[in-house]
Amino acid sequence: MKTDSPFLELEAAPRVRVWFDGQPLELPDGANLAAALLAAGVRTFRHTPVSGAPRAPFCMMGACYDCLVETGGRVQQACMLEVKDGMRIARPHEAEAVHAEG
Ligand code: FES
Repeated sequence: MKTDSPFLELEAAPRVRVWFDGQPLELPDGANLAAALLAAGVRTFRHTPVSGAPRAPFCMMGACYDCLVETGGRVQQACMLEVKDGMRIARPHEAEAVHAEG
């Protein structure tokens, strides 16, 4: 279990390519996914189902669920995942359309 801030590892790690809503991003390999996406400029991770309000990571420890993204066919907390080469990530309500594009 890592105990350092997820933001400390962003500078040194080699970059790998991932896709967020179909757009390529170069993120630090093995970094915390939520921290890496925030550092790359992603500000909206999901929208609330009732009001459609934008949400982004808040707690960074798996408690708030504001960082939910779809990856690997599942909706998961980005702050609980590590960046891996080739990841395809999507905002949950937009996942179906992005994956339909191929
Ligand atoms: S940022 Fe709160 S659960 Fe991920």
